[in-house]
Formats: sequence, C-alpha cells, structure tokens
Amino acid sequence: MTDPTLPQEPTRRNTLMWLTGAMGVAASAAVGVPLAAYLTGAIRRHPEDWVPIGKVDDFPLHETRLYTFENPTHEPWDGDAGKSGAYIRALGNGEFWVFAMNCAHLGCPVTWVPAAGLFMCPCHGGVYYENGDHASGPPPRGLYKMPWRITNGVLEVQAPHLPTLQDTLEKPSTMVKLPMAPRDVT
Ligand code: FES
Repeated sequence: MTDPTLPQEPTRRNTLMWLTGAMGVAASAAVGVPLAAYLTGAIRRHPEDWVPIGKVDDFPLHETRLYTFENPTHEPWDGDAGKSGAYIRALGNGEFWVFAMNCAHLGCPVTWVPAAGLFMCPCHGGVYYENGDHASGPPPRGLYKMPWRITNGVLEVQAPHLPTLQDTLEKPSTMVKLPMAPRDVT
C-alpha cells in the first residue's frame, strides 16, 4: 500500500490524461483563435475617411469622369489593388453625382460609355443609366452612391471600403440627393 503523504509517481494513465487534455486545448485554440479573429474582423468597422478628390471648380460640368484614389483601408503592399475609384459628374450649383465604380452585382469595375450615356459592366452585362439607376442585366439595384461633401472648395468622398448590398455606403445622415442632370444637347 502506498503512503498518500509521499509524492506520487506519475502513472501512465495520468500522463495520458494530461496529454489528451493538452491536445484538446491546442486543437480548440487552433480552431477558435482564427474563428474569433474572423468574426471580430467581420464585425469591426473600418474608420470612415474623407478622401479629397479635387477642387469643385475643376470638375467639368455635365461630364462623367472616373477619379481614382487610394482606399483608406489599403495596406502598403496592396499596390494597385489598394486603389479605388468613383465616377463623378458635376451638375452645377455645387451638386454632384458620385458613384462607386463597383458594379452592384459582384463588384466588377464598370465603364462609363459617353456615346451611349450608360455605365456598362464587363463581367455579366450589367447596364446602368447615367444617373446610376439600374437599366438591365443581373445587378439587383443601381450603382452605389458615395457620400460626398465640399470642404474649403474641395470635393471629398467617403470611401471606407468596397460597397456591398449589406453595406451600401449610403448612410441616412449623408445620403446624397441625386437629381437628374440636364442632358447635353448637341
Ligand atoms: Fe457586374 Fe456581374 S459584376 S454584372
């Protein structure tokens, strides 16, 4: 009979139990840590930055043009992938149309075709009118309207990330009214 007051020799059974427990903790951490990081990353919001695009007076009236800029969330190693863009049209009297360049279907960059007065998506044939409304093809809605403001005569756009159907950039507090622009008569 062993004396309980003496230090016990680790038995094979105890050692296996400890090993099993340690392996369980390691396996849980291997799965749980990345999962927690993913979930918190999905929930965490990037700060919303205002990106200066150009002086208000430098935008040609009634011409839709693509303006590119570095996405505020870009990393130094992103290269061109860290760039984003907006189609901007000056309407006069300090009014603008500002659209994210990403198609509302799966995010491909759309192209403005002035001769047709349409935005075309090369990926699946989505088409939008000049005011960003959906014209045809698979996109479930019009182009994403980017919040914008004018600070000291400079047009700034709010560009935190790629817009999606779940997060459209269109915050109620900064929703932009989009009147129809007078058409150029040539
Ligand atoms: Fe534009 Fe599909 S991504 S139509």
